[in-house]
Amino acid sequence: MKPARRRDGLILAAAAILIGVLAFGAAKGKGKNLPRDERHQPSYDALDGTRPRADVELLCLTCHSQSSVPLPKNHPPKEQCLLCHLPVDEK
Ligand code: HEC
Ligand code: HEC
Repeated sequence: MKPARRRDGLILAAAAILIGVLAFGAAKGKGKNLPRDERHQPSYDALDGTRPRADVELLCLTCHSQSSVPLPKNHPPKEQCLLCHLPVDEK
C-alpha cells in the first residue's frame, strides 16, 4: 500500500509542475516587445549578458513607475518585465 501512495504523490507533483510550466509559458511574451529606441538603448546595452536580467529590470522601474511612464492600470503582475516584454533583435 505504501509504495503505491508514494507513487501517486509523485505523479501529482509531476502534474503540478507541468501545469506550472505551461501557465508560465502562456504568460511569456504577452506584452509588447521592448521598444528599440533611444530611450531603451541603455536597457539593451545593459542586456549584454554580463549581469542578471533582474538588474536590468530594476532599470525599467526608474522610468516606468507611478510618476513618469506608468504601467496601465490593469497591468499583470509586474516583476520580471523582460519575460513579457521581449527584447527584439537588432535589425
Ligand atoms: C529612460 C527611461 C526608460 C527606461 C529605462 C525604460 N523605458 Fe520603457 N518607455 C519609456 C518611455 C518614455 C516610453 C514611451 C515612449 C517610447 O516608446 O519610447 C516607454 C515605452 C515602453 C513600452 C511600450 C512600448 C509600446 O510599443 O507602446 C514598453 C513595453 C516598455 N517601455 C518596456 C520597458 C522595459 C521592459 C524596460 C526595462 C528593460 C524599459 N521600458 C525601460 C521610458 C523608459
Ligand atoms: C506577465 C507579463 C508581464 C510582465 C511581467 C510585465 N508586463 Fe508590461 N505589459 C504586459 C501586458 C500584457 C501589457 C498590455 C496590458 C494592457 O494593454 O492593459 C503590458 C503593458 C505595458 C506597458 C504599456 C505599453 C502597452 O503595451 O500599452 C508598459 C510601459 C509596460 N507594460 C512595462 C512593463 C515593465 C516596466 C515591467 C516590469 C516592471 C512589465 N511591463 C512587466 C505584460 C507584462
